[in-house]
Amino acid sequence: MHVKTPQSETVIILDFGAQYAQLIARRVREERVYCEIVPFDTPWSEIQARNPAAFILTGGPESAVAPGAPHLSPEFLQTDKPILGICYGMQELARASGGAIEAQQYREYGRAELIVDAVQSLLFLDVPGRSQAWMSHGDTVTQLPAGYITLAHTATCALAAVGNPSQKRYGVQFHTEVKHTEYGRVVLRNFLRKIAGLHQQWEMASFVDAAVEQIRAQVGSAKAICALSGGVDSAVAATLVARAIGDNLTCIFVDHGLLREREAEQVVEAFRDVLHLNVIAVDARARFLEELAGVEDPEAKRAIIGREFINVFEERSKDIAGVEFLVQGTLYPDVIESKTPHSKAGAKIKTHHNVGGLPETMRLRLIEPLRLLFKDEVRRLGRELGLPPHIVSRQPFPGPGLAVRILGTVDAERLATLRRADAITREEIEAGTEDHPWQYFAVLTPLRSVGVMGDGRTYGNLVAIRAVSSDDGMTADWSKLPQELLERISTRIVNEVPDVNRVVYDITTKPPATIEWE
Ligand code: XMP
Repeated sequence: MHVKTPQSETVIILDFGAQYAQLIARRVREERVYCEIVPFDTPWSEIQARNPAAFILTGGPESAVAPGAPHLSPEFLQTDKPILGICYGMQELARASGGAIEAQQYREYGRAELIVDAVQSLLFLDVPGRSQAWMSHGDTVTQLPAGYITLAHTATCALAAVGNPSQKRYGVQFHTEVKHTEYGRVVLRNFLRKIAGLHQQWEMASFVDAAVEQIRAQVGSAKAICALSGGVDSAVAATLVARAIGDNLTCIFVDHGLLREREAEQVVEAFRDVLHLNVIAVDARARFLEELAGVEDPEAKRAIIGREFINVFEERSKDIAGVEFLVQGTLYPDVIESKTPHSKAGAKIKTHHNVGGLPETMRLRLIEPLRLLFKDEVRRLGRELGLPPHIVSRQPFPGPGLAVRILGTVDAERLATLRRADAITREEIEAGTEDHPWQYFAVLTPLRSVGVMGDGRTYGNLVAIRAVSSDDGMTADWSKLPQELLERISTRIVNEVPDVNRVVYDITTKPPATIEWE
């Protein structure tokens, strides 16, 4: 479902297969300009139907000169709307406009010093002559198309930014969207505001109105059920859909037994008493444990949990007459990392349970109103919808729950161990830090190690603590927690949780690691 605000000017982002496409979209929205991502080979007539005000061409993993590389359709060059090509997008723009591209012997990857040559260019307004930029490319433009001029270079890339000001077409070899490009936002803002002349019109309030209107149009008088996981995403999705269709939404909360300590009760309370949603709570704990018995493989666990979730929903939905829709709180990062057909981007990292776990036989149609949003945008949306802070500020929690935080097989005893260790970790971090990390939790490993307690030898479980800072879960840094806090967590876990005799702290960033361990 595309949620579009009628009054907005639309920027079309042509996706050549970059993981960064979503990040570009997000940066555009941060400038309060509405945008949509479409695959690079979307027919021109379809693109025109969206009445685009400007275009951004994304990077891509391919080489523009390799056989079978994704190309810009020739009709595209007939547009009189402004175009910004980023990385591969710049190469495609240059190639399609008659320039030359060559594969380089060495890829340029990482930070580079960007030196602006055309200081008068609107694209580099308020950008200093020298700044840091993030480069990641194997090919490079070696000959400018007619009408284009050089705007900036780096030590190894003579054409790091080019432009044809009269046609309002620009290309940058560096990534404007990543934080490591110091003035990336300024360059993007200049393109949107100074070059394309767009206004800052797009807001959460208009997103809510447009989403409500579209959900009403889509669902009509049919009924919908909502998959409540306990996290902020499904809370926001449910509230948004309830605003559109009122009592025709029934929320089904499946207690799969993989939640944190006391979480199941808290969730039901919050949804029924605070949000006044129509909630059916299903105790499916035994059923999930049975299905998970003996399963070690992370992807298999995710698939089982996703499948069981949907099975429970389908069974329950039979009791409610006229249910045709299933609401899920799927977000952008879930969509990209699971590599659904909606994104031709990137390699599969892990299957997020609300995307990859859906069985083909599912007969309910999906409503995913948050599909275009990032986590922090969902929180803003939640506040806009009037959700209480303790729900909006909840830390993210994976759909498959503690099953992906218990490495190896999951059983009732290991769940109890992790729940206690996790509760202690959260309690101490919440009491011991002013600004809580973005996400913080305990992981139960399948390792045992030798220890000594009192006078005796122990051979107990190893618990790992993970605490990270992040904006959206796409990248993350490990939190530099105070040593005394780590010490308190470790002491309490070893003293209070039976069978745990060792605690370690995870000091890996994402990438290369992921936030969850499975
Ligand atoms: P990873 O482990 O991929 O996690 O770095 C990124 C963020 O996503 C959360 N996560 C999930 N959320 N369903 C979800 O709704 C899932 O299957 C899932 N797996 C991971 C994770 O907690 C982190 O915030």
